[in-house]
Amino acid sequence: MTTRIIGTGSYVPEQIVTNDDLSKIVETNDEWIRSRTGIRERRIATEDGTSDMAAKAAARAIEQAAILPEEIDLILLATSSPDSCFPNGACEVQAKLGAVNAACYDISAACTGFVFALSTAHAFISAGIYKTALVIGADVLSKLIDWTDRGTCVLFGDGAGAAVVRADETGILGLNMHSNGEKGGVLTCGSRSNGNFLLGRKPELGYMTMDGQEVFKFAVKKVPECMNEVLRETGYTTQDIDHFVIHQANFRIIESIAKRLKVDVDKFPANMERYGNTSGASVPILLDELNRKGQLKRGEKMILSGFGAGLTWGAILLEW
Ligand code: ACO
Repeated sequence: MTTRIIGTGSYVPEQIVTNDDLSKIVETNDEWIRSRTGIRERRIATEDGTSDMAAKAAARAIEQAAILPEEIDLILLATSSPDSCFPNGACEVQAKLGAVNAACYDISAACTGFVFALSTAHAFISAGIYKTALVIGADVLSKLIDWTDRGTCVLFGDGAGAAVVRADETGILGLNMHSNGEKGGVLTCGSRSNGNFLLGRKPELGYMTMDGQEVFKFAVKKVPECMNEVLRETGYTTQDIDHFVIHQANFRIIESIAKRLKVDVDKFPANMERYGNTSGASVPILLDELNRKGQLKRGEKMILSGFGAGLTWGAILLEW
């Protein structure tokens, strides 16, 4: 018994912020951003919180899966930007959906979050503990960004994507998850509640910091490695894979990964042009777009892969 995706959904806020819009608040321009990243515009949340977007994406996935919210045994929300420390975001989604029978918790693995959360759901399902799970990636990174730092603020956008998964004969064929905490300093977002009254320290606002070139080098090395690992372990080759659905950080990373794997870049769908890097949401948003456009055929093989802060990275090979 394995785990199959039976429904997908996504949601992005309405508000579009173009590269030209950003050039009015920091010293940047459309040409620089597009040529370095492939991003033209992103969505920025105004009214929506993380759990609002997560619940909207999830509702679409549940509708497509044609199940009742009460049938869900487990809700995992991958996010680095929950609305509050507690209750966790997955519990907030549960309340919005009426998924009264689910156990709910968040998973923090930044841009790898959805891949880690889907792997976790698969572990529960293949162990026979749960039958149906809702896996969501949702982030409002716009609230963690220093909007005066042109090196980071141009890269990100807000959004949510979700998948309903269920025990089935086919689906996930293999996976791996990796972390390297020693390299955590290349991508950080400090604590937002660092206050200590004994030390007379007031709570601080931590913002995202990134060593862009180190992140680039990490991604183009580790993503092909973990993809080759899952291919080796399952007995498939890159030629067997129809779609490489990977975290949408920037298009040059995708080109470089495709080149290293000797795979045509056309097999790497991309949508960061319209959404920027939506962190934990990027893989499920892209998956939902492909699914709803009818670009995924039953029996096709795909690899989902994420990479991000931690550092964390991983790959899932599945049959659609
Ligand atoms: N607009 C104009 N100029 C800029 C901007 C900007 N938005 N940002 C930086 N610059 C300038 C720098 O100040 C620098 O100027 P200088 O040479 O006068 O000092 C120059 O551009 C080059 O800066 P670099 O940081 O060396 O630019 P680089 O070519 O490395 O591109 C980028 C930066 C796009 C971030 C690149 O490192 C990259 O793609 N990194 C991958 C990181 C990534 O995708 N992170 C996403 C989040 S992490 C994740 O999802 C896992």
